[in-house]
Amino acid sequence: MTPFALKNGVLHAEAVALPTIAEQFDTPAYVYSRAALEAALREFHDVLAAHPAGAGALVCYAVKANANLAVLNLFARLGAGFDIVSGGELQRVLAAGADPRKVVFSGVGKSVAEMQQALEAGIFCFNIESVPELERLNEVAGQLGKQAPISLRVNPNVDPKTHPYISTGLKEAKFGVAYDDALALYQRAAALPHIAVTGIDCHIGSQLLDPSPFAEALDRILALIDQLAAEGIAIHHIDLGGGLGIKYREDQVQPTAAAYLNPLLDKLTGRGLRVVLEPGRRLVGNAGLLLTRVEYLKHGEAKDFAIIDAAMNDLIRPALYDGWHDILPVTPRPDATRDYDVVGPICESGDFLGLARPLAIEPGDLLAVMSAGAYGMAMASNYNTRPRAVEVMVDGAAVHVIRQRETVEQLYAGESVLPR
Ligand code: LLP
Repeated sequence: MTPFALKNGVLHAEAVALPTIAEQFDTPAYVYSRAALEAALREFHDVLAAHPAGAGALVCYAVKANANLAVLNLFARLGAGFDIVSGGELQRVLAAGADPRKVVFSGVGKSVAEMQQALEAGIFCFNIESVPELERLNEVAGQLGKQAPISLRVNPNVDPKTHPYISTGLKEAKFGVAYDDALALYQRAAALPHIAVTGIDCHIGSQLLDPSPFAEALDRILALIDQLAAEGIAIHHIDLGGGLGIKYREDQVQPTAAAYLNPLLDKLTGRGLRVVLEPGRRLVGNAGLLLTRVEYLKHGEAKDFAIIDAAMNDLIRPALYDGWHDILPVTPRPDATRDYDVVGPICESGDFLGLARPLAIEPGDLLAVMSAGAYGMAMASNYNTRPRAVEVMVDGAAVHVIRQRETVEQLYAGESVLPR
């Protein structure tokens, strides 16, 4: 599905011309396509529904990728669950209409208050990442007179071959418990009075375009499940985490959900395990773009710069992970291109959204920074007292504001000066 395409020489989101959105809501603006969001989730649901091992599977969207209520609400309506990493995300998904019994709680640092909140809500599972966390949860659940359903996040020590900042399943990572310790930890968990062992979990990294490391990780986890069964510890669900990559640039090939899931489901056939998945980027990444306007063209001594009204505070992926985002003119000109560093107004050399991009542009032109639906707005900040962008969702010919542009007053509303 191509939610963003040129029609009569103008880039559209579904049936809406992007210049119309810029006129109405100003720039920078995050623009999402409802159809693309829904298609991405359906692709997962369809593959799971077509495979016997997919029966009862739960797709828990990783909220961190894009936490807008409208996005969460669309996914909840289609039956998705949610993977959360904070009490804030729990509150968000509940506000968006999520079923708490479809929520898994990941993360290495769950606080007492967050555990209480999740136990009261009645979530599906806590993904436990350390012994002290397990003990704390047992205690908190005991105080509330509850049993906490858990899985251990096991580190399969598989190299996902992605950017080091988003590799999580290696021995050196702060995430999960060591593979070799898992059996003993499960025995300990099984003996705790307020803990109910229900599943097993792993997440090896993000933006994987080669699905083979997922299969490797699954083999290791299945071997562990067999060991646990021999020790009398039954596992009911297997959470394979998120991590399936998206196509950010022309030369990349995005594996289909079928190519990712079917080999995993084949291995799971006949085991009676409920499958849980935690995709984030894959469900939202290519369903959003960042719409921005060229403020100035600056022809420097060594380089040409396009200074735009979006910046690293709006989209930090290029600065933080060398992330590549295609940058397309909204109304392409037939003129010759020049290589521009596309930069924002922030006082940092790292404030760029793309380097040496061949573009034919003039001041005032609109640009679309593509594949920005995941970890875009979710990681936006107010650095340089820049209000965060407006977010709109296009649905056919309709445009809905799903988050208003912040005002500067909102940014300092919680601040105060000393009395004297
Ligand atoms: N589950 C767990 C436990 C995770 O830590 C993550 C992502 C996911 C699921 C979702 O992974 P996904 O399907 O989106 O790859 N900000 C970085 C990505 C950080 C990913 C952190 N964990 C970026 O912009 O590339």
